[in-house]
Amino acid sequence: MTIVSDRRADTDAPIHDLLAERWSPRSYDPSGQIDETELASLLEAARWAPSSMNLQPRRFIVARRGTEEFDAVVARLSSGNVGWASHASVLIVTVAELRTADGQEIGSAAYDLGQSIAHLSVQAHALGLHVRQMGGIDAAALAERFGVPERFRVTTVVAVGRHAAEDVDVDPGHRDRDAAPRSRKPLAELVNPSDWS
Ligand SMILES: Cc1cc2nc3c(=O)[nH]c(=O)nc-3n(C[C@H](O)[C@H](O)[C@H](O)COP(=O)(O)O)c2cc1C
Repeated sequence: MTIVSDRRADTDAPIHDLLAERWSPRSYDPSGQIDETELASLLEAARWAPSSMNLQPRRFIVARRGTEEFDAVVARLSSGNVGWASHASVLIVTVAELRTADGQEIGSAAYDLGQSIAHLSVQAHALGLHVRQMGGIDAAALAERFGVPERFRVTTVVAVGRHAAEDVDVDPGHRDRDAAPRSRKPLAELVNPSDWS
């Protein structure tokens, strides 16, 4: 499946279209829907991500727009995220399992959770959906609202939706920010660094 996007990464070496063309918009169609099959595929992609010792120390709280749970998640986002995220079709609260039920620390929990969301993001793009992740959340308030036990940590909220077409009325400020150039640090800064500053 070839996905057309004018937000394609300007890569220094060829990478798969899905990776080059995935990006994180703020402009979501407020009437966009994700069907049950699509949602199941997203969560399945997350489920099948690798994890240390296959412990799978991750949980997902899924809330569809139009439900009380969705509104509860929106109410616990930082102010800069509320406007755009409330147009997403689904919000997913991601939760890392920091300790097993018998008290063993799971040191890889954040890594393993993040990896599952990376898989979910790529699967979303393959389905023509978009994802924007959020660290700007009130994690303690989300944990309280959804009864997340202390050995788990609410980590992010992931917005999944349909990117708003040009004729859909969304905040022009979000459109502008979505049009900003996409950039990354050069590989030379990341690979075999001689300078760790
Ligand atoms: C862990 C994490 C937390 C993020 N938190 C926020 C956030 O609170 N609000 C927001 O608008 N974007 C947030 N983002 C989105 C990033 O800013 C975005 O992915 C990054 O700028 C790269 O853009 P791209 O995904 O389009 O390549 C977050 C992304 C990640 C992975």
